[in-house]
Amino acid sequence: MKTLLQNFRIVDASIDAIGAVILHDEIIRDVWVKGEAIRYDIGRMGIDRVIDGGGLTLMPAFIDMHAHFRDPGFPEKETLESASLAALAGGYTTVICMANTKPVIDTFEAAQALKHRSNALRLIDLYPALALTRSMAGTELASGFSALDLIRTSALKDIALGFSWPGPRYVRLCSEDGKDVADDALFKEALVRAAALRLPVSCHCDAGGHEALQAWEAGQPYSIWSRIEENVATERAIRLGREAGAHVHIAHVSTKEALARIRAAKARGESVSCEVTPHHLCLTESDAASLGSESYGRVNPPLRNEEDRQALIAGLVDGSIDAIATDHAPHTSGDKEHGSPGFSGLETSFAACFTELVGKGHLSLSRLSALMSVAPARLLRLFDRGAIEPGLLADLVVVDTEAVWHVDTALFRSRGKNSAFSGRALSGKTLMTLHAGSVVFDRGFGAKL
Ligand code: DOR
Repeated sequence: MKTLLQNFRIVDASIDAIGAVILHDEIIRDVWVKGEAIRYDIGRMGIDRVIDGGGLTLMPAFIDMHAHFRDPGFPEKETLESASLAALAGGYTTVICMANTKPVIDTFEAAQALKHRSNALRLIDLYPALALTRSMAGTELASGFSALDLIRTSALKDIALGFSWPGPRYVRLCSEDGKDVADDALFKEALVRAAALRLPVSCHCDAGGHEALQAWEAGQPYSIWSRIEENVATERAIRLGREAGAHVHIAHVSTKEALARIRAAKARGESVSCEVTPHHLCLTESDAASLGSESYGRVNPPLRNEEDRQALIAGLVDGSIDAIATDHAPHTSGDKEHGSPGFSGLETSFAACFTELVGKGHLSLSRLSALMSVAPARLLRLFDRGAIEPGLLADLVVVDTEAVWHVDTALFRSRGKNSAFSGRALSGKTLMTLHAGSVVFDRGFGAKL
């Protein structure tokens, strides 16, 4: 099936031009930008489908390195299907889901089973993160890291045969999620094993906020302790990663001091990357207070102050921050009222970033594309996506950069209505998402074709 997407503003990390794209089944076959000679006679190409953008913007679909799908175990919060539909509505076609499910994803078999279930839905390309310790209890390594498991997943076999083994195809990242491994020696051992599997380790560096909570209960300011906790945990993850020879990816960096430590590690040439969330880029502790600091405004790590927020934006501008990730954390309203941390973020991520970063002149749309698509693709060693180039997977999103809309969580595909942006006016709307050449989400734009 050949598809022509014409009259689009085509934007990826290296293009921003009016043009057209031809897809052949699931692959991008050709890209033309205005002024370039058209290399084919379109009439003779046998085009089966034409999608006319009428000036709308076509970008590579987004890639989320950090989402919580809650499946298996918490269907009242989210399911594989509701999360996948939320991802598509937000323009995401590739997602890493964290392992804090019930049971925890702590074996390659569990990761593979979830990936197979997701593939059967034919909605997105899901890669489950693998926990570092069994049941995330922090006492023994997850079985995925045992020597036996390495052989079973044919890692050693492939290495022995001389293949450049990219890790099991269904796992691209390891993570102990909302906390890191408390025991230094065990954490380091897990990092060594992950490095042997060539898997980056996403470190959450917030220890679940436990120390901060204890300090707060003892009458100390929560915000100060929680930032000390993040800063110390970031330093520790970087140090243990260096000692283990692993790639450490710092999740949802939120303080200016943690960012400074990451910047310093990168300057020393260490194998470190990091991500930032839309909510930490757009909101501060005063927004948390209006939402309810211990309920709807609660997130780990917490929303910080304006100086931190500005430092994070500067980190995107100077390249110290590698990627934007949602940390999509759906909860029921009952859970939020009782203080469960996190925001439902997949469906507002692009618009929030577009409004705050592109709309206010901090970043170009090309740079935002890099942060949301090609950069996470490269960190996950997914070299077949993230840009609009011939030969890459046709994972694309159509966005209306002129649209202004109000966030109405009743319309969310996600079961989690706990948005930090609820009721806000945002600019930039995702209208249509294509995954492997198929239209998998269409807000109605396609109906007008
Ligand atoms: O606020 C958060 N909630 N941050 C995380 O990192 C985990 C998440 C969750 O699982 O609810």
